[in-house]
Amino acid sequence: MTKLFTPYTLRGMHARNRVVISPMQQFTGVHGMATDWHVGHFARFAMGGAGIVFVESTAVEERGRNTHGDTGLWNDAQTAPLARIAEVLRINGAVPAIQLGHTGRKAGMQKSWQGHGPLNDADRARGEAPWPVIAPSPLPLGPGWPTPQALDTAQVEALVQTWADAARRAREAGFEALEVHGAHGYLIHQFLSPVTNQRSDRFGQNRWRFALDVAEAVRREWPDTLPLFWRVSLADVVDGGLEFDEMAGLLRALKDRGVDVVDCSSGGGIAGYPTQGRSVSNSLLFRAELAAQLREASGLQVMGVGLVVDPQTAEDYLQAQQADLIAVGREALYNPNWAVHAEAALGANQDYATWPRQYRTYLSRRADAADALRKTHAARSTA
Ligand SMILES: Cc1cc2nc3c(=O)[nH]c(=O)nc-3n(C[C@H](O)[C@H](O)[C@H](O)COP(=O)(O)O)c2cc1C
Repeated sequence: MTKLFTPYTLRGMHARNRVVISPMQQFTGVHGMATDWHVGHFARFAMGGAGIVFVESTAVEERGRNTHGDTGLWNDAQTAPLARIAEVLRINGAVPAIQLGHTGRKAGMQKSWQGHGPLNDADRARGEAPWPVIAPSPLPLGPGWPTPQALDTAQVEALVQTWADAARRAREAGFEALEVHGAHGYLIHQFLSPVTNQRSDRFGQNRWRFALDVAEAVRREWPDTLPLFWRVSLADVVDGGLEFDEMAGLLRALKDRGVDVVDCSSGGGIAGYPTQGRSVSNSLLFRAELAAQLREASGLQVMGVGLVVDPQTAEDYLQAQQADLIAVGREALYNPNWAVHAEAALGANQDYATWPRQYRTYLSRRADAADALRKTHAARSTA
């Protein structure tokens, strides 16, 4: 028995295995609506055997988009295309999951293939104008980036409600797991970090306040029967930033508010650009010990992520209790069938039983034919 391919149950969510497709933005939404691209993109991972498939960071309000191509759930019309994706994932055997996000001062970026810099006049000419961005404090991401407007206390309180409203829409769309994006230097992380939160009101006196209020508001809308994930960047890796010990305390407080799983990321730091010379590896390999400590300290389930390529390594993290779930990102873009291939590589399944039933017979015949061909070649080369 492998752990990676043991079914996983949390609250009322049942996943066929512990392979999770990490949220990955496609920058292909139109007015915040998911498109047919997304349907095909996500279906591949479910058909490829993943247990849980996360839809990308989906904006809780329009100002919080990363790019003009972000998907959103800030209005009811955006629910229908996401409901279609949730259904496509479900009929292909995966748990439909979605991440909600707000990028704060990192809003208004170019799409990845346009450079990922701040939107400029050339983008405006193409119809993708910059928009005013908001943050806890009026500190730009770096030189050349817009100075965000600092929200007053009432505006921050209103923002908390946008998370709750988006969570309700995610539920209505049929998702069965929800993740709050609290990492990567985005809005929640901006409230948490002393580097970006220099407020004097209650959202500054207690830098956790915004995150805790979001957790409570989301939990009120998200059914008790379904799990809530929370993504963190493990530490700020910048002088004066959030350190690991504080993160452990925060996670205990989030657990008390109904968070079930911590998704241990490290990327996209708070410091902005340039990064003051400090960095943390994006690879789980270098963070697995920290993830295990967080698991111990917080009592939360842990999702590990970061350059998981090799199935045996993923299995080892689970066996060593450094994680309960393994998220795969770029490797799944390279090979959307990563999960079924990993299952075969770990010896958990050799007979295509977990491939789509439409394929199984033909894949078995293909394997037999390929085997026969190999034997013929071998016989010829020894003759
Ligand atoms: C194209 C792309 C888009 C991404 N979008 C998101 C996102 O929407 N939300 C998020 O939390 N992380 C996002 N990430 C980070 C991934 O979820 C993952 O944590 C990271 O790629 C490390 O895992 P990997 O080495 O398996 O790719 C993105 C990564 C990629 C490659």
